[in-house]
Amino acid sequence: MKWRSIMHKADVIIVGSGLAALMVAYHLCEHKNVIVFTKSNKEVSNSWLAQGGVAAAIHPADHWLSHYEDTITTGCEHNDDEAVRILVQEGREAIEQFMHLGFSFDVDERGELLFGREGAHRMRRILHAGGDATGKKMVEFLFEKLSSRVLFIENDPVIDLLVNDGRCVGVRTKNGLYVAEATIVATGGIGQLYTFTSNVETATGDGIAMAYRVGAAVADMEFVQFHPTMLYVDGKAVGLISEAVRGEGATLVTDDGRHVMDGVHPQKDLAPRDIVSRAIDREMKNGHLVFLDISAIPHFSSRFPTITSLCERYQINWRSGLIPVVPGAHFLMGGIVVNVDGETTLPGLYAVGEAACTGVHGANRLASNSLLEALVFSRRVAFRLLQKMERRSVMEKSEKKESNERISLPTKEQIQQTMTQYVGIVRDYDQLLQAKQWFEQYSIHKLVNMASEHDDEKRTIIYMLIVGWLITTSALQRKESRGAHYRSDEPFEKMYWEKRRIVRTKTEHLIKEGFR
Ligand code: SIN
Repeated sequence: MKWRSIMHKADVIIVGSGLAALMVAYHLCEHKNVIVFTKSNKEVSNSWLAQGGVAAAIHPADHWLSHYEDTITTGCEHNDDEAVRILVQEGREAIEQFMHLGFSFDVDERGELLFGREGAHRMRRILHAGGDATGKKMVEFLFEKLSSRVLFIENDPVIDLLVNDGRCVGVRTKNGLYVAEATIVATGGIGQLYTFTSNVETATGDGIAMAYRVGAAVADMEFVQFHPTMLYVDGKAVGLISEAVRGEGATLVTDDGRHVMDGVHPQKDLAPRDIVSRAIDREMKNGHLVFLDISAIPHFSSRFPTITSLCERYQINWRSGLIPVVPGAHFLMGGIVVNVDGETTLPGLYAVGEAACTGVHGANRLASNSLLEALVFSRRVAFRLLQKMERRSVMEKSEKKESNERISLPTKEQIQQTMTQYVGIVRDYDQLLQAKQWFEQYSIHKLVNMASEHDDEKRTIIYMLIVGWLITTSALQRKESRGAHYRSDEPFEKMYWEKRRIVRTKTEHLIKEGFR
């Protein structure tokens, strides 16, 4: 297909409006003309929902090395060492810079920063804002800074990345063509591929699917983190209950009064998320309900106003001390392969935030490292871009073939059920193979190569199928258990202790296997 008539131009296109996207826009907008595209309203992002906070070794008694060790231990040593060092060392400066712009984290009555605690951190190092509304406060703050300096085009989903002569040269959105010297994917995660998730409705992995379709390398897709505690009401997960609640002393108990984490891990309720999620999953599969016992937390409603109002919206009596919970898909550690400056394997294409895989989170992300990742790596992407940018002419050509072929598609719910049942918290070979076969009945290779659908619902389903298949085939390849990827047919202990070598599950090979 020839790219159609009117082409708009920008220096930089950013796809997505979470913290990473906004921070890159902030660093670039002085020098470059930036357009930010959002699939829905700009407020709809996982960053907006982030409760816990930002982890950083800021406290005088803390040290970046301790934060480094906690990140690597939680990531089961699958982390990229350079990326982790950058995160924890540059993190402090990135936070100071953010505060210098005028942002206020929560402080005590003497004006001293308050530090919260979350799972697998050995000390209190989580800065928060608005109690448990950290992400929302940070994003709102940036919207204010950016409103007159960046063009936001809302409710105009990007449906394809444009490639010319092996270079990404812009995007096709539902309403037009936009060329740019640099295109940055910051579309966030994939939580909506699962029945229970903390993620916003739009988190269907589109950016990763689009990058994969144009040949950018994708890695570590099997590492999907399940947050242990979503609010569980009438068989549904209806919102996040921050890990900071356990950091303030809440414990997980069963409906027959047992402590879920007793004897499971030395850090008990503050063990890494994968361990806590599996413990809850086990209880629930054995027919028990699991609750957060918050009775030890004084002033619960003022420390956690967002969670209090979430409970009240669903008529959960938090004053009783017990909040019903269930694990839900929360964060993808894998994604589009990037170096520490956000460059993908496709020239002209960058990725940042959850859609990107620097390897910083390893096999399992440490709590509250994702907002920090957004602050730190967005600066690097912006600086790299400014160094490299040069004008390029753009040919009107697309590499995708138009196809009239009708491919029958499943519903979103069917994809969620398949992922939840076969590619969930606990996996094994037979189930993964069943899921792979289920995905492949939808001719994934054709979906990868076809021109994009204009119909929003169908396109979303196609991108979910591609991403679900990437996660499933990566999970099949990784025969060990590590971090968030748990294979019941390969005991964690054996594999984890025997193999301490990073082997990234790259999905490039799938392209070579004839799928493109
Ligand atoms: C939470 O508040 O528990 C989520 C924070 C995070 O995922 O880092």
